[in-house]
Parts: sequence; C-alpha cells; structure tokens
Amino acid sequence: MAPTPRFSSDKVTVVFVLGGPGAGKGTQSENLVRDYGFSHLSAGDLLRAEQVREGSEYGELIRHHIREGTIVPMEVTVALLSNAMAAILEQNSSKATPARFLIDGFPRQIDQAHFFEETVCVSKLVLFLSCPEEVMLSRLLKRGETSGRDDDNIESIRKRFRTFEQTSMPVVREFEEKGKVISVEATGSKEEVYERIKAELKSKGVDAL
Ligand code: C5P
Ligand code: MG
Repeated sequence: MAPTPRFSSDKVTVVFVLGGPGAGKGTQSENLVRDYGFSHLSAGDLLRAEQVREGSEYGELIRHHIREGTIVPMEVTVALLSNAMAAILEQNSSKATPARFLIDGFPRQIDQAHFFEETVCVSKLVLFLSCPEEVMLSRLLKRGETSGRDDDNIESIRKRFRTFEQTSMPVVREFEEKGKVISVEATGSKEEVYERIKAELKSKGVDAL
C-alpha cells in the first residue's frame, strides 16, 4: 500500500522552485516570501547547515556531494525538509491562513520528487527559472567573490551544470507532463524576472497577499 503523506495538500501548499545553479532561485524566493506569505525552505541551505551541525553523521557526505556538484541521497534531504516544514507549521499553528511553502532547489532528482510526494506532501506547482549557462556562469563567478561557498568555483560549477542537465531537468520535464510547471525566462535584472513571475502566478490563480 502507498504511504500517506505527512502533510495533506488540502492544508499545505507546496511550490517547488527549480532552475540551474545561478538561475536566481534564492533571489526570487526572497521576493515571493515578502509578497506572497510563503515560508521559504532552501534544500541547499538546509544541507549546508546540516553539514556544519555539531554531531551530524552526514557532514562529510554532504561536503563531498556539494563540492562534486552531485546529489546528496534523498533520505537526508527529504528528512531535513520534512522536519523544517513541521517546525514551521508548529510555530504557526495558531494562524488561520493555510501554510504556503516555497521549496527552493528541490527536487533535483526524480527519486526525490517521488519520495517527497509519497511521504511528505503533494506539490501544487513548480516554478522553473529558465536561464542560459553563460548567464548563470557569470552570476556564479560574481557570487563566488563573496559567497564563501565551496562550490562557487569553476570546477564545481561545471559539474553542477552537468548534474542539472542530466539529473534535474528530467524532474522538470516530468512535472511539465503533469501540467504543473510555470516556466519563466530568468535572464535580465532581478526586477524584470520578478515581474514575469508575478504575471505567471496570477495566470495560475496564485495571488499576492
Ligand atoms: O541549491 P544549491 O545550489 O544551494 O545546492 C547546492 C548543492 O547542494 C547542490 O549542488 C547539491 O550538491 C546539493 N543539493 C542536493 N540536493 C538538493 C539540493 C541541493 O544534493 N535537492
Ligand atoms: Mg540557492
């Protein structure tokens, strides 16, 4: 028998934000949190926090995958997301408005998508930020000047691009077949991209607060 997801999609709205490294997932998520009342969960940020958490048994494993631009085993990432969602729901339990989650950088591999929807929550939409590699490359190199991230260097970036094409794009295509994808051209300024996102969300009946 299929497991029942931990959270019902009647009560909890999940929107995935996907796109290559440097497409602007984190940047645009900040806008959406401010204007739409989403709670933002970044899979990459949760993994980086777990990597340095004292006592974590996954630190070395996560460090290896992040540097190599490969995908951390889904059990680790899905548990981090599920627990973060539970903590937010617990904090907000007195609020009448239904919870909206923006999950950025996840699912990056098809097994993660299936496992999450079977055990945590079925998603409502996928916001896909479409961006050419040369634009993402120049953004990441610029970010690398100050980010302190282990993977904002040219070798890791090349590997991340390969993983994105080979492993993460099939996820986008599968959600596309289900009619769940909003695709937005992510070139140009942050403001231009955000205007496009707002227009697309409106057309899908998702309104700002
Ligand atoms: O999304 P972000 O660029 O912060 O992700 C950084 C790295 O974290 C990825 O390159 C990958 O190694 C890891 N990651 C993962 N699974 C996810 C999200 C991120 O393994 N769903
Ligand atoms: Mg990010």
